[in-house]
Amino acid sequence: MARFTDEELMRKVQEGFIVESEADMTETYKKALVNQLIVQGDTELMSAPAYYMATKDAPSTNTMVSATAIIQDELGHANIAYRLLADLGQDPDALLYDRPPNRFKNPFGFDQPIANWGELVTAHGLYDRAGITLLSDVHRHTSYGPLKRALAKVGMEENFHLRHGEVWMRRLTESGGEARELVQRGVDWMFPMGVEWFGMPDDRKHHNAQLDFKLKGMTNDQLRATWLKAVVSLCEQLGLDVPAHTNPETGEVELEYELPCEWDADERVWLLHTPISWDQVWERWKARGPMNEEFVDSIRRSRAFTEKLLAA
Ligand SMILES: [Fe+2]
Ligand SMILES: [Fe+2]
Repeated sequence: MARFTDEELMRKVQEGFIVESEADMTETYKKALVNQLIVQGDTELMSAPAYYMATKDAPSTNTMVSATAIIQDELGHANIAYRLLADLGQDPDALLYDRPPNRFKNPFGFDQPIANWGELVTAHGLYDRAGITLLSDVHRHTSYGPLKRALAKVGMEENFHLRHGEVWMRRLTESGGEARELVQRGVDWMFPMGVEWFGMPDDRKHHNAQLDFKLKGMTNDQLRATWLKAVVSLCEQLGLDVPAHTNPETGEVELEYELPCEWDADERVWLLHTPISWDQVWERWKARGPMNEEFVDSIRRSRAFTEKLLAA
């Protein structure tokens, strides 16, 4: 028998109550928290093979070490989320090894190949910024104590990833020529990917358990606007083209295309002026991107290899 009803718990967390264990939860709270942690863990986990793919293109040994350190951090972040899920009765082994690849809940951006060093540092500048935007909101607002404490470490490391990305984006754009072009081409496909990262717009969501139970503080549109402000300002400073601009009067970023729009998976380009519905976006997300199976397999391969080695 739960100590509280959903309504009581919603009221209590809005007044500052911190949930410390399952004894304080309702079923609805627990379900929303588990779902949030699976998205968080899967996103951290799948960023590792995505980043690893391009780390092999690092321009020097020390840059490869920095890029690999970021991957190690991401695996640590995934471990934190799965460890918290274990405390809630979930089986991390089953989550990692028994789910079909298309059931992982990472965003569509981490189902895509990251092809070279220019794209990798752009991913750190744009996607790690998305991670910071989402997780710093959770860190500030979450009513779940164990997650709030764990995110202190995650936030500091994410800042290192972001700085690494921004410093390298600047270095490559300032050197001009092909190096600048690599970053611009990365921004061309990763910027709209980042805009979509924050999910459906608020007017499509009538009820949101994560907000009701204070598992996060900001809505999808507020989070998207926060990310846009930071990323568009960075691109403007670096002289990179993005289909958005800062309105000088309001200080808000305005997109120069209608959301959502078509993604040409074969050419890896956005058809910014071919509008589609959010139902079509949902279908595209569900169908997954080209690297989904390979990235999941790359995480699993090492276990099979180690088991074989130990059995020999
Ligand atoms: Fe991370
Ligand atoms: Fe990161």
